[in-house]
Amino acid sequence: MSNKIERIAIKTTNLVKKFGNVIAVNNLNLKIPYGCTYGLLGPNGAGKTTTVRILNSIISPTAGTAKVGGFDVITQSTDVKLNCGFLPESPGLYQKLTAKEFLKFIGELYYLPKEVISARIEELLDIFDLEGRENDLLEGYSRGMKQKICLCAALIQDPQIIFLDEPTSNLDPAAARMVKDLILDLVNKADKTIFICTHLLDAAEELCDVIGIIDKGVLKLEGSPKDIIKSQNASDLEDAYLKIMGAVHIEDLLAWREEVPNSVNPRKNSKKRKKARG
Ligand SMILES: Nc1ncnc2c1ncn2[C@@H]1O[C@H](COP(=O)(O)OP(=O)(O)O)[C@@H](O)[C@H]1O
Ligand SMILES: [Mg+2]
Repeated sequence: MSNKIERIAIKTTNLVKKFGNVIAVNNLNLKIPYGCTYGLLGPNGAGKTTTVRILNSIISPTAGTAKVGGFDVITQSTDVKLNCGFLPESPGLYQKLTAKEFLKFIGELYYLPKEVISARIEELLDIFDLEGRENDLLEGYSRGMKQKICLCAALIQDPQIIFLDEPTSNLDPAAARMVKDLILDLVNKADKTIFICTHLLDAAEELCDVIGIIDKGVLKLEGSPKDIIKSQNASDLEDAYLKIMGAVHIEDLLAWREEVPNSVNPRKNSKKRKKARG
């Protein structure tokens, strides 16, 4: 048995967030060690963005506590913000700034020295393949390019803990692949702790050590993708997810077709036709 003490990067205790009558986060308990890639998975409106906004001290919880990097999200919000990178779901960009001006501004918010800011901007623009566009106004950037700039902003102070809310949602397949590779690099080479909110199952399965499945603010299940698949006796994460969410499979939706006469059942007819041909 290992006697290594696991250091915890993100911890929530009975976290609750209510918006009027809506309970967006319902008694959430998370314990995420440093170096872990954690995926919070769930349908639209499940409470993922609300959770990540609380963890970045953007909004306060209604009840419960949360610590990120050892700092309390309510009483030590400045420390939380200084120690975390955050890619919001709908980031605000200053459209009349160039990419370089915007990233310089973000770097200054983190009190980074000028030389560090310049070096980091060059490095990030190179990684994201945006060199040559750094002096263009952000208003002229495509959605995917804006997403890349927001990722640069989340990474500029080289944070130990990084929160990414739907990081690949606006990206074309090549850019999404690039972001996934970057996330893998951040974990494998730089030993970062990454918290990803997503509803994209393939990204979660590929990137995450641990997945938490949340629905209507409640954490329904937590474990490695492998364990979750096994626990549901499922073939892959999508199958497991649908079983957990109690979703109706398309086969069930179409079951009525087995009951109707062959004349109106194209699937049965096509089987018959195949038999006749064979
Ligand atoms: N600022 C807000 N005011 C009122 N309701 C909100 C607010 N933010 C989120 N909600 C509600 O909280 C629930 C969870 O939303 P959200 O955390 O954005 O879900 P997700 O990111 O999983 O799609 C939804 O019912 C949403 O309408
Ligand atoms: Mg969201």
